[in-house]
Amino acid sequence: MSEVKQLSLIHFKNYKKKQLAFSKRIVCIYGQNGSGKTSILDAIHFLCFTKSYFHHADAVCVTKGEQGMRIYGVVKDSKEYEVACILRENGKKEFTIEGDAYTQFSKHIGKFPCVFITPDDTELITEGSEARRKFLDAMISQTNAQYLEQLIQYSKCLQQRNALLKQWSAGPEKDFSLLSVYSKKLHELGTFIFETRKNYCEEFIEHVKRIYIFLCDDAEEINMTYSSQLASDSLLDLLDRFVDKDIFMQRTNFGTHKDDLLFTLNGMPLKQAASQGQRKSFLFSLKLAQFELIKKITGKHPILLLDDIFEKLDEARSGKLIAYLLEKQSQVFITDTHEERLRNAFEGKQEVAEFIGLNSM
Ligand SMILES: Nc1ncnc2c1ncn2[C@@H]1O[C@H](COP(=O)(O)OP(=O)(O)O)[C@@H](O)[C@H]1O
Ligand SMILES: [Mg+2]
Repeated sequence: MSEVKQLSLIHFKNYKKKQLAFSKRIVCIYGQNGSGKTSILDAIHFLCFTKSYFHHADAVCVTKGEQGMRIYGVVKDSKEYEVACILRENGKKEFTIEGDAYTQFSKHIGKFPCVFITPDDTELITEGSEARRKFLDAMISQTNAQYLEQLIQYSKCLQQRNALLKQWSAGPEKDFSLLSVYSKKLHELGTFIFETRKNYCEEFIEHVKRIYIFLCDDAEEINMTYSSQLASDSLLDLLDRFVDKDIFMQRTNFGTHKDDLLFTLNGMPLKQAASQGQRKSFLFSLKLAQFELIKKITGKHPILLLDDIFEKLDEARSGKLIAYLLEKQSQVFITDTHEERLRNAFEGKQEVAEFIGLNSM
């Protein structure tokens, strides 16, 4: 089990300087809105993923008016590791474990697996396909380093191919042999990504269904389908056949960057068919299934970061979730604005749960 034992923040979001120590498996953090609960979870996400869960740009996380930030952690696994994420004043980022700096941050992904559940995750259901690909990739990358490596290469190759298509619009010269090199590379990488996603999704959906039924005893049938252009055609074939479209649009219209996950309830699109409660339950099922599958594949117990979850679930479902968490062996961080609600949730469980109150700033 990966367990964060200590956390030290310098110039991170609302924390100019903050030190925290965690001694129990379930850490309950309470405090008013704006007191910095989500920021603590995000700092833990940094230690696991080398970046924020919410922001693409690291600079957004630096306390306003300051330059640079530091996140230090002690994470216990088979032994204790000192982990540090440092954003220097000049904007350069370093990530170290036991004092050794990573040359590629991606090499750290999966070392301490983690799953984040926040109220903002509804975008997984309501927004475009990018959020769902990101979700899928975050799961697979934590269990499969080769996948992450190929994903990074795919993204680079896609950028190069798109840049070439853009260049072509400026003049009559078209280097088709270079385009063909990119297409072949994209085909190889994309085929690997497609096969890996397909295999994962088959097992993943079984976990989602099982957890959904556990959470809400719902007779409704939920389902998830992995949709990809590569399911019926070879990518190279598509790229060759529709090259005129790519040239006209100045970008690559086929590949695994167009994949999606389709969610349904009784055969209808979930986005339209599901009530608010069903949507929430579905989101929790997705995330907890991610947690279960990572655990099954890696044998590691991912850290669970649960942000404001009781706001989102009714009493019956909250009760089930708490029972579920108590049964697991993972470290769990839970935030809430209501101290009482948290204390009631874990009443009599002092041996596994601790409570940390934050003063509003
Ligand atoms: N870069 C930053 N500099 C200073 N304050 C920040 C920065 N980013 C976020 N904050 C502030 O930190 C506070 C805590 O945010 P958050 O952790 O989301 O609180 P909570 O989850 O307890 O509601 C918010 O008031 C937010 O405006
Ligand atoms: Mg919050």
